[in-house]
Amino acid sequence: MTSSATLPKMPVTPIFNPHGDDAIENRSIWFGNVTNLMQLNDVRYPWAVGLYQQMRENFWIPQKLDLTQDVTDYWNLTPEERYAFDGILSYLTFLDSVQTCNIPHIKASITAPEISLCMAEQISQEGMHNQSYQYMIETIIPSERRTDVYDFWRTDQVLLKRCEYIAGLYQQYIDNPTPENYFIAFLADYMLEGLYFYNGFIFFYNLASRMLMPGSADIFKMINRDELSHVRLYQKLLPEAMATLPYAEDHVYEMFDKAVQYECQWTNHIVGEQILGITAASTEQYTKYLANLRLKAIGLKPLYTEDKYKKSPYAHLERFSDTKKAGNTKANFFEAGVTSYMMSSGIGGWDEI
Ligand SMILES: [Fe+2]
Ligand SMILES: [Fe+2]
Repeated sequence: MTSSATLPKMPVTPIFNPHGDDAIENRSIWFGNVTNLMQLNDVRYPWAVGLYQQMRENFWIPQKLDLTQDVTDYWNLTPEERYAFDGILSYLTFLDSVQTCNIPHIKASITAPEISLCMAEQISQEGMHNQSYQYMIETIIPSERRTDVYDFWRTDQVLLKRCEYIAGLYQQYIDNPTPENYFIAFLADYMLEGLYFYNGFIFFYNLASRMLMPGSADIFKMINRDELSHVRLYQKLLPEAMATLPYAEDHVYEMFDKAVQYECQWTNHIVGEQILGITAASTEQYTKYLANLRLKAIGLKPLYTEDKYKKSPYAHLERFSDTKKAGNTKANFFEAGVTSYMMSSGIGGWDEI
């Protein structure tokens, strides 16, 4: 193993390395000397095999979910709700596009095959999430407005800045692939997976709680479940990254605080105060609550210490998110046997698969 501090560049694992050593005791997440064969008989990180299995069992097909009611509901939304619907869909399309593009760069330096396996599945899921947005856009949004959803960032300066900031942290690593920049891109992944989707999800669950756009909410609860499996992957990897790669703890808190500010700014811009059940105050409380939760999960202190940031203002929407049910987010799933997961039920269309 090489010390990351002495490396000017993050090593990219060769396609095939006949001089590698796949012995389990010599494996590591980064800087290992593996052959790059996916030797999965013996694994150093068994939790990754369990996580991969759960990601596969979360399999779903967007087109199996029924959007019929949403087509009518879309025209019964208020103009503000419709504007937020289009804008959030556009932002989420950006997030999944950028992940599909970025994760292969992160994965290229991974030297534990079981972790590569999880990232390969993550890339597949992010791609499929884009397909689910396409399905929603094509089904719900009239043809003359569809391109506007994809192009929202071209006319909306707030969204453009948001996209540029998120992509910029990834691009910085590609342009200058040092171990420090790898860590920053890695942390940025965690913030995207763990923070950036959720005010968007809340908007759709909020509509569903008022009996609006139920098919869209069904799609988002499946995406939500997938994203939570990605959050878990980074939660497991970040403490290892902090032990292996050069980083400054202050910088981690700084990045989190910035992420929270930008997320609130964007949500206030696109959702504002015009939508029943969501206010600038509830957005701030929820985003800071989530940031605390994500920090705690990687062994760091909460950034926002007031009592109100200890709970979600949207607990009443949890039943729409479907992420608390058995088979979705088992608290102990890392330790559970790989055959113990259940296929999700209660969502239309599974019988046909
Ligand atoms: Fe995704
Ligand atoms: Fe994701």
